[in-house]
Amino acid sequence: MPGKLRKRTESVEGKPASASQVEMVEVVLPNDANPLGNILGGRVMHLIDIAAAIAAHRHANSYVVTASVDYVDFRHPIRVGDLIVLKASVNRAFRTSMEVGVKVFSEHVLTGERKHTSSAYVTFVAIDEAGQPKTVPPLILRTADERRRHRDAAARRRIRLAHRYKRA
Ligand SMILES: CC(C)(COP(=O)(O)OP(=O)(O)OC[C@H]1O[C@@H](n2cnc3c(N)ncnc32)[C@H](O)[C@@H]1OP(=O)(O)O)[C@@H](O)C(=O)NCCC(=O)NCCS
Repeated sequence: MPGKLRKRTESVEGKPASASQVEMVEVVLPNDANPLGNILGGRVMHLIDIAAAIAAHRHANSYVVTASVDYVDFRHPIRVGDLIVLKASVNRAFRTSMEVGVKVFSEHVLTGERKHTSSAYVTFVAIDEAGQPKTVPPLILRTADERRRHRDAAARRRIRLAHRYKRA
């Protein structure tokens, strides 16, 4: 049921978005690539999940599981030998779940040119030792961008929960 109302069982101190932000960089190796010499989409999705999970772990300081990925698009190929740069940031903390936004860039090692290649929104749920969802700290917003992402995350949550809980 979307928007289940439950009381917070403990009062938790807020944390700024900057405290959990992640920048992850890897070099694209031949093993990551398709026969055209471009990174595989599945490899990009794996790295998105990892970068986003680290941001969620840092915010919640607990185990987290991936609940959903809204969508991932691939705007430009990333070539073998390029760097793949992933920036992940908690957009909004709900009760036990968090939306993390991930932006992916390619970076050419010789020129330093960066291209925005993918974006994704990943939702994680914090889990306690018994495997039950647990409350996460509120997110402290400090910048106009953080406030915009926080606002937009509410609309995305409505859509994803409508999909999750719709009757089959
Ligand atoms: C994600 C999971 C914990 C949710 O469990 P559940 O029984 O539906 O739990 P609840 O109904 O109490 O919901 C818990 C939170 O998950 C959120 N949630 C559940 N399904 C969701 C979805 N598809 N997208 C976004 N959020 C979702 C709920 O909105 C709620 O968030 P809130 O407390 O911030 O409001 C459970 O479905 C699960 O364990 N899934 C498998 C996770 C997994 O193995 N991932 C891949 C490997 S890490």
